[in-house]
Amino acid sequence: MKDIILEVRNLSKNFNLHLLGDKAVVAFQNVSFTLKRGEFLGIAGKSGSGKSSLIKCIYRTYLTTYGEIIYYPDNGNPIDLASCPDEEIIDLRRRKIGYVSQFFGAIPRVSCEDIVTQALIQQGVNKDEARNSAQNMLSRLLIPKKLFDAYPSTFSGGEKQRVNIAQALVKETELLLIDEPTASLDKPAGDIVLEEIFRLKKRGTSVIGIFHDDKELRGFADKILVMEGEKGARIYENDK
Ligand SMILES: Nc1ncnc2c1ncn2[C@@H]1O[C@H](COP(=O)(O)OP(=O)(O)OP(=O)(O)O)[C@@H](O)[C@H]1O
Ligand SMILES: [Mg+2]
Repeated sequence: MKDIILEVRNLSKNFNLHLLGDKAVVAFQNVSFTLKRGEFLGIAGKSGSGKSSLIKCIYRTYLTTYGEIIYYPDNGNPIDLASCPDEEIIDLRRRKIGYVSQFFGAIPRVSCEDIVTQALIQQGVNKDEARNSAQNMLSRLLIPKKLFDAYPSTFSGGEKQRVNIAQALVKETELLLIDEPTASLDKPAGDIVLEEIFRLKKRGTSVIGIFHDDKELRGFADKILVMEGEKGARIYENDK
């Protein structure tokens, strides 16, 4: 097994804004880094510097404009996440790559317990075990039992975000992408989320995370990638 899990080479993302006469907006440019297995890469940078866009390119929510994102699975051949077929991405999302988005778009009329349970069933876990693990994860993230049957569309911002986090963390994936998971949470809930992320890291999950709190970032990250929009990015080791 290769000790590198992800190799990002000369990655750039532009948007063409059709409504503005095809004006090009640069989200980020010329970003390169490698992520070792079990490593935690923190992403820093000003608002609008391309942090979320980078994570979305890796998860393929956004198509990459230029460059490669080579993913080395624990078994099998390397895959370029920027150019592989959609079916491959869908399979990787089910089994290998977890994602917590900055904002949660709740699925209408699916209960929060079912959202988290489904994530595990898609990964191949049997129904009873999936339901059990889903309930445990929701409880660990302080979602009250009486809300398990309710639809997250009716939840508070912080509750929605904790369901979003639960459906990603419960899967214990090889690679975890997290975009400001604690931004809408109070301190106790935020600390629990950080603990859970750290537990996964100890198990061997590699993490790429954006944190709005500099202290959280510095407390956790092995390396820090500072995004600078059009000017690229720089990476350095974090002395914890
Ligand atoms: N879907 C989109 N369409 C057009 N432009 C976009 C889109 N997504 C991002 N951008 C632009 O790309 C740039 C980077 O946005 P991004 O969301 O990656 O920044 P960020 O570093 O995550 O900011 P924040 O810290 O505020 O979350 C911004 O100028 C933004 O307007
Ligand atoms: Mg963002």
